[in-house]
Amino acid sequence: MVLYTALFLVLNLGSQLIGAQHLQVGFYNNKCKDAELIVKEEVEKAFAKDNGIAPGLLRMHFHDTFVRGCDASILIDSTPGNLAEKDGPPNGITLRGFEVIYNAKARLEAECEGVVSCADILSFAARDSVHITGGMFWEVPAGRRDGRISRASETVDIPPPFGNLSVITQAFRKKGLTQDEMVALLGAHTIGRSHCTSFSNRLYNFSPTNSQDPTLNRFYASQLKQECPQGPGGSIDPNLVVEMNLSPALMDPSYFADVLKCRGLFTSDQTLTTSPQTKNQTEEYAGNGLIWQQDFVAAMIKMSQIEVLTGAPGERRSEIRSNCRRINP
Ligand code: HEM
Ligand SMILES: *[C@@H]1O[C@H](CO)[C@@H](O)[C@H](O)[C@H]1NC(C)=O
Ligand SMILES: *[C@@H]1O[C@H](CO)[C@@H](O)[C@H](O)[C@H]1NC(C)=O
Repeated sequence: MVLYTALFLVLNLGSQLIGAQHLQVGFYNNKCKDAELIVKEEVEKAFAKDNGIAPGLLRMHFHDTFVRGCDASILIDSTPGNLAEKDGPPNGITLRGFEVIYNAKARLEAECEGVVSCADILSFAARDSVHITGGMFWEVPAGRRDGRISRASETVDIPPPFGNLSVITQAFRKKGLTQDEMVALLGAHTIGRSHCTSFSNRLYNFSPTNSQDPTLNRFYASQLKQECPQGPGGSIDPNLVVEMNLSPALMDPSYFADVLKCRGLFTSDQTLTTSPQTKNQTEEYAGNGLIWQQDFVAAMIKMSQIEVLTGAPGERRSEIRSNCRRINP
């Protein structure tokens, strides 16, 4: 327990240093003192009804940060003239948890109108989602402002599940994250679910020589085929989902043990065993969950500060949105 507390303090300090230039821990203390509490309450309330909102919000935050930075562009609704990020290819029907953010925002507007950004709400909610599923707690540096642009075409920056190690590493590098940080962050695939269509290419007609992906554990593959059967003409029901692993509600290091057993769900997961460094890191995390949690938190704090808008001089236009679903008129 002493060790745990000490680690917590170090992480805390680290987050303040990393965020020192732009963002601040406790940013709303004097501006809207219950901001973080209200977000936490909304996450807890929704989680009690459906624990899937925790993985949903963690993934939503990742997808937001990879497109135009952490600016809540993912929360904006499409309009007749604009197909928004949330309706772009990797998001579409697979994202969940939007209502949690919208409800928190409604309460915050009632309490402190025009003060708390949607981008900060999403970042707090992602942190709370990790904590509520048994992961570590950390302080989130805040003070993000919301963007005014959301385009479905820009979701190409989100790495695809069929990507190999160089493809996904490049996608993270483009956002200023290292390969080590990427490996730590991928541990998020220890919670939640996936639609069959996100990995069914590994099960059927994989390549001219292999009907299924040879890097996928055979028993796991047959189980996945049962959960994701082919319909007429080889089609896969777009509504079918499977759990990420055997403990999909727990933020534990089991993801890394799974990958080592060739039970990584996506090509982008299994690819961690294809280089000596990433394999080593996977083994390290599988063997020591506390080290993973520490690295995960540090990487989350960094990811949550990608290209943030803070209203600095010369910055592209930003605002505190009054409704997370649309830019202010
Ligand atoms: C190479 C990078 C990544 C790829 C290719 C990837 C891909 C995917 C895919 C295809 C799904 C399934 C979506 C569905 O069909 O419902 C998924 C789910 C998920 N991803 Fe990732 N992901 C990556 C990195 C991350 C990161 C960095 C995080 C967070 C730190 C994350 C968090 C999650 C979570 C929590 C889920 C479960 C969502 C739910 O249950 O609703 N992923 N990811
Ligand atoms: C990874 O995938 C990319 C794009 O499909 C391809 O160009 C590259 O050769 C692949 N790299 C390896 C090492 O397989
Ligand atoms: C693997 O990690 C250990 C520490 O866990 C380190 O001592 C070793 O040099 C690493 N090996 C490679 C190939 O990176």
